This record gives sequence, structure tokens and C-alpha cells, in this order.
Amino acid sequence: NFLWGAAFSHHQTEGKTGGGENGDWFEFSNPANGKKSPIENGDTANVAVDFWNRYPEDITIARDLSLNTLRTSVSWEKIEPRQGEFNQEVMDHYKKIFAEMKAKGLRPMISFHHFTHPKWFHQQGGWLNPKSAEWYVNYTRFVVQNLKEVCDLWMSFNEPMVLVQMGYLSALIPPMKASVEDAYEAAWNTARAHLMVVEMVHSIQGVPDNKPGSPIKGVGLAYAFSYFEPHNKNSAKDKLAVQVLSELVNWAWLDSIQSGRLEFKIPKNIYSKTLNRDLFAGGKKSISPKFDWIGLNYYSRWLIKYNPLSKIQVEWVTAPGPKGDNGWQFHPEGLGILMKQVTQKYPYPLIISENGMADASDAQRQKLIVDAMSTMDSALKDKIDLRGYYHWSLMDNFEWLHGYRFKFGLVEIDFKNNLKRMPRKSGYVYRHEISKRPMTVE
Ligand code: BGC
Repeated sequence: NFLWGAAFSHHQTEGKTGGGENGDWFEFSNPANGKKSPIENGDTANVAVDFWNRYPEDITIARDLSLNTLRTSVSWEKIEPRQGEFNQEVMDHYKKIFAEMKAKGLRPMISFHHFTHPKWFHQQGGWLNPKSAEWYVNYTRFVVQNLKEVCDLWMSFNEPMVLVQMGYLSALIPPMKASVEDAYEAAWNTARAHLMVVEMVHSIQGVPDNKPGSPIKGVGLAYAFSYFEPHNKNSAKDKLAVQVLSELVNWAWLDSIQSGRLEFKIPKNIYSKTLNRDLFAGGKKSISPKFDWIGLNYYSRWLIKYNPLSKIQVEWVTAPGPKGDNGWQFHPEGLGILMKQVTQKYPYPLIISENGMADASDAQRQKLIVDAMSTMDSALKDKIDLRGYYHWSLMDNFEWLHGYRFKFGLVEIDFKNNLKRMPRKSGYVYRHEISKRPMTVE
């Protein structure tokens, strides 16, 4: 029952057919008045890799690589283009996609969210609106009611704190906000939304028991973890910077789900206000479990430097040594350490929900796969309750602010030749590694 998969997301692969133009990211990358798209090379995801139409071919490729699951997301802006108005045709199309996966032996894992939002949500303040979590549950309930026959593996969110950091703290992606208060508010609302979504999924599909050895089910999320080390191991300030950043990036949001209270632990000399509030008045929503499993997204190790000029006085530096085309360095030891830390802090089954590398040459990706697999073998020997691995990504796709520049796919896409799909050698390396592991059930 071990999940061997690959991951991608709606906006990065589908193209706008079905109503993508109703989303904040569409607006962001297709600015009005002839202004230039802020995406590298002026790229957009208007066509992306046309997964919306070419899904049968992609699912067949995944099956031929011996995968038994695929992870993607559904598009809120296509499903609920105007507030309270749901598009049944779009939902039926998604049902066809996920039924096709099941028919070819791949369990779908579906995220309700992967960075994009409907314009109507964005125009009302997005995750700063006190009603945002309620609106989100209305939408996610509609999705579960429609897809419950084809899916029993859900994600409340993909990387909520990446959205918070990039969209609310650093103004790099919609909604382009840049304050610690806004970041806190958005984190608080998404944390509330997570708990409400878990409660909703359980009310429709029940609480899975997820005993070791049984097929993992229910609702989790994909959380982005980074492995941080001080830039200078002897510098007390660099060490403090690692501590502040790990708290904010890796732990604060997940801790709030466990404790019911979100706290941003930032030293007073850096930020004087207290950010520490209950998620629900009077400790409401003490649901159990709070996740059916946790998804760990891992790409890189970072060296952290104290920098008084940055908003929270930290600077990320790429570690020396081989790295992907975007400068990220895969560090298998970091993956092993994070797996231990996460399961010690949160006693839920674990899934590696993303891991991969931007590597047009493909050579480093092959090594990453072998190294990630042996790191997982050791984790299983250490009795970590690991239930699956999803490589990011099945195919090259729209890499957000970088457009199509970075190649993450097990399958290469020829953008000059009708989006032709060509499995890379690393796809076959992954298949070979899967075949060597007895935990695979045919
Ligand atoms: C995101 C993906 C993205 C990948 C590589 C992850 O943080 O979930 O959407 O493509 O990183 O940048």
C-alpha cells in the first residue's frame, strides 16, 4: 500500500480552459493595458502543458512508469467562478480526469488549493477577510460531494506558509501584500480553514483508521519544510536567525493546528507586537485527529545569515556544492532529519508529498531519486510511519514566477513541438528504484 507517485498542480499544467481567466494568477500574468507580464520571459499559464485535454496521455505515461498514485489540485476559480455559483460542467470534467486515473490503477490525491484563488475572493481581501475560511469550506464541500466516489486522499492546502511568505510578507505573488501583520492574519485564517476542512471531510467520508499497513486515506496537507543551518556555525546571531526562521517557516502554522493557538515567535527587538491568538474563540473545534497524515515537501538546505536590513533580520544563502538549475541544493541528510523532527512533533503518518529538482540535464535528478529512496529506506528502518513518496514533478510545467525556465519533470515537454511528452531517463530510474522495493503492492 505504499504510495509511489508524482505531483503537479492545476495552474501549472492545465491551461485556462474551463475558466482559468477567473483567477488571481491569470490576472497577475495577463495584466491589462498592455503592461508586461511580471513572469520571466513574459510567460503565462494560459496553455501550460494542456493537461486539461491531454490527461489520458499523461496518466498512461505515469502508469507505464509504475506509479500507483498522482497528486494534483483542482482550480477554485474554475469551480466557483463567482461567489456561490458552482460550475457543474467543470466538476464533471474533473470527475472524468480522476476516474481515468483510477481506471489506470493510480489513486488520485487531490489538493483543494495550490496558490491560486478566484478573483472574487482576491477582491474581498483574500485570506485577510474574516469570512475567508467559511467561504473556503463551502467550496471544498462542493468538491468532496462531487468527487467522493473517485477520491479518498485530500489536501487542505499546498504549502500555506509559502503562500503567506510570498503573497503577504514579501509581495512577490498575489495578493502582493508586505507586512508581518498581514502575514499573521493570512496564516491564522488558513489554519482555521484547515481545521474546518478536516471536520467537513470527516463528516462526509468518515475518519479513516490509517493503521500501519492499511491504505492511507483522509485529509492532510502538503507543508514546505526547509533544512536550515547557520551560515557561520560559531555566530550566535546566525544561530538565532536559524531558530527564528525555523519557528516561522517550519513550525508555527503546524503547531497552531495542534494547540489551537497561532503564535509568531519573533524576538521583541526585531518586531515589537505580540502575535498570538486562539484560532477559535473558547477553544472551539477541538476535533480529532487534526490531520489524517502530514505531507512533507522538501527541496533544499539553506545557510542562514543574520542580516539587520531584512524584515525579520534573516538572509537565506545557497549552500556550496552541486545544485539544481535554480540554485536549490538537495541535501538528503536534511530530508532524513526533517522526517524525524516532523514525526516526533506530530504523531501522524507521513508522506513525502514533494521532492525533486530543477535539472534540464537530468543527471542530478537521477542521483536525487536514488539518494531520496535510500533516505526513506533508513527512515522505515527507524520505524518512521512513512506511507508514500511523490516526486515533483511528473512533467515540466509552469514554474510560477520563473515561467517555463526550470525543468522539474520526470517527463520532458517539448514546448516547440506541440507539447510532446518524452519521459526522461530519471523517470526510468524512479521506476527501477520502485521495482527494487518489496513494499510495493501490484
Ligand atoms: C510548489 C510547486 C513548485 C515547486 C518547485 C513547491 O514549493 O508546491 O508548485 O513548482 O515547489 O518550485
